[in-house]
Amino acid sequence: MKTTIKKAILPAAGLGTRFLPATKASPKEMLPIVDKPLIQYAVEESISCGIEEFIIITGKHKRAIEDHFDSAFELEEKLKNTGKKKLLEEINKLSHINFAYIRQRIALGLGHAILCVKPFVSDEPFAVLLSDDIIDPDYPLLREMIKIYEQKRCPVIALEEVPKAEVQRYGIIDGVLEGDVYKINDLVEKPEPRNAPSNLAIIGRYILTPDIFEILEKQRPGFGGEIQLTDALREIVRRMPIYGYLIKGKRYDAGDKLGYLKATVDLALKNKELSESFKKFLFEKVKAE
Ligand code: UTP
Repeated sequence: MKTTIKKAILPAAGLGTRFLPATKASPKEMLPIVDKPLIQYAVEESISCGIEEFIIITGKHKRAIEDHFDSAFELEEKLKNTGKKKLLEEINKLSHINFAYIRQRIALGLGHAILCVKPFVSDEPFAVLLSDDIIDPDYPLLREMIKIYEQKRCPVIALEEVPKAEVQRYGIIDGVLEGDVYKINDLVEKPEPRNAPSNLAIIGRYILTPDIFEILEKQRPGFGGEIQLTDALREIVRRMPIYGYLIKGKRYDAGDKLGYLKATVDLALKNKELSESFKKFLFEKVKAE
C-alpha cells in the first residue's frame, strides 16, 4: 500500500503511574491484551496503512520493547525443531519492519518526547501513536486520518466525545465542524469541566508535520510541569489549520485499569480461538453475580 506517511513515532517513555505496581520495572507498553503487547497493536495498525518505519521513544526500564521486536534465535530454533510453524510465523511476522529507538533521558512530557525525534526525521509528515490508546483493530482510524491529511496537507488529530465530567483527563478542543472534520480554533490541556470549550477530547493518534519541532524547542512546561504536545499544537493552530477527526469506532484507554480490562474482554471476544469459551465463562459469571 502506498502512503504519504512513511514513519510512525511511538512515544513509550512515560512512567505509567496509573498502572503501578505493574509498571514499576516493566514497560506499560508491554502489558498484553490477550496475547500481544499494547505496542504491537499500534505497530500493526500503522503497518495496515503502509507504514514500515518506526521510531520508538523509550526510557528507563523499557528495554523489553527492543527485545520484543528483535529476533529471538533460541526460541525460533526451538519452535522450528518442535514443528510449531504457526507460532514461528507469528513471532517473525514483523521481522521485515525497521525499528529505531531513541531514549528520552527524563520523562519531561509527551511534547518533549516527540522533540527527541527531531534529528531523525527529515522534512516529512509523520504519524504519532500512543500505544496505550487501543483502537479496535477492525476500524481503520489511522487510514482515515491519512486520507484527510492527503486532502488538507495540514496536521490531523483524532477526537472522541467524552462525558463532561472526564474532560480534565484529556486535551480538549474548540472547533467548528466543516463537512466531516473539525477545524480547530484552540486546544486546552486537561481543563476543569466548567472551563472546557467542548467535550471533544484529543486521543492518541496524530498526523503531524515537522513544524511542530520548532515550537516544541521553545515550549515552556505546562500542565503538571511537563512539556505538553497540546500546548505546542495550540501554537501551530495560530500558524496553520489543524483538523480534528471524530473517531467512528471503538477506543480503549488501556493505560487505565478499567479501560485495560474492557479492551481485554472485547478483544478476547473477537479472538477466534477464545471467543466461544470465553463468552460462556462471562455469561456464567454474570449470571452467578
Ligand atoms: P500518559 O499521559 O499516558 O503518561 O502519556 P504515562 O506516564 O505513560 O502514564 P500515567 O498517566 O502516568 O499512568 C501519554 C503517552 O506519552 C508518552 C507515554 O509513554 C504515553 O505513550 N510519554 C509521556 C513519553 O513518552 N514521555 C513522557 O515524558 C511522557
